[in-house]
Amino acid sequence: MHLLFLGPPGAGKGTQCQLLSGELNITHLSSGDLLRASVAQNTKSGQMAKTYMDKGLLVPDEVLIAMFKEKLSDTSLKTGYILDGFPRNLAQAQSFDIMLTDLNQKLDCVINLDMDSEPLMLRITGRRVCSNKACNKVYHIKFSPPKLDNICDSCGHELIIRADDKEDLVKVRLKTYFEQTQPLIDYYQKQKILVNIDASLATKDVFNRILNALKEVAKAH
Ligand code: AP5
Repeated sequence: MHLLFLGPPGAGKGTQCQLLSGELNITHLSSGDLLRASVAQNTKSGQMAKTYMDKGLLVPDEVLIAMFKEKLSDTSLKTGYILDGFPRNLAQAQSFDIMLTDLNQKLDCVINLDMDSEPLMLRITGRRVCSNKACNKVYHIKFSPPKLDNICDSCGHELIIRADDKEDLVKVRLKTYFEQTQPLIDYYQKQKILVNIDASLATKDVFNRILNALKEVAKAH
């Protein structure tokens, strides 16, 4: 299956994509995780991306388009992937359409994690992530705390706060989402592949709704 997740910062894209990747055994490709890995490796494109991420702004389209063109051409991804964070504006979506045609692939479903902006700040400011880039597991100090304080249940590495999870930056990220990413909801609605999921529910309820929606998609194919 070829899937894409949309939703504002903190709606739970990373959380749900990690669960789904485990359940369906397909690769989760998160643009944010890929960018943060290149920042941590201090590559040239990582240094450049950091200047935008530190301001809560989108990294230039050409960086993301080149990154995903390379990633998606990996033949091990032929049977499916879950995209989280790319495409993120209309220009990226149009480039992604060309990639799909070139790869002879089609997007099966776009899951839109729908949520009011008010509770998002609480979700984001309470987020902790595993510092081990190969794990990247997401926690929340209140909603999904680790068993041991600040230690990842899965790999035992320390949990950290993401550099862009400061309140002032979250406000900019939300504004960027509403101006640039939200128009993609219409874009995929017109293609009749969009499914809206209420992301304000508990994690397991959101996950069950996603699984049910995907069963319907599979039946229709
Ligand atoms: P990115 O990493 O993609 O961040 P984002 O879109 O802002 O989304 P988040 O990761 O903040 O939220 P999420 O929806 O994944 O929520 P999560 O599951 O963690 O992008 C970061 C930056 O990279 C961008 O600002 C930009 O600069 C750059 N970038 C990335 N892609 C780009 C692109 N294509 N083009 C240009 N620039 C790009 O959950 C949040 C918290 O809530 C967690 O603590 C979790 O435990 C908790 N939680 C989740 N679900 C629930 C629930 N149901 N109930 C209670 N708590 C929950």
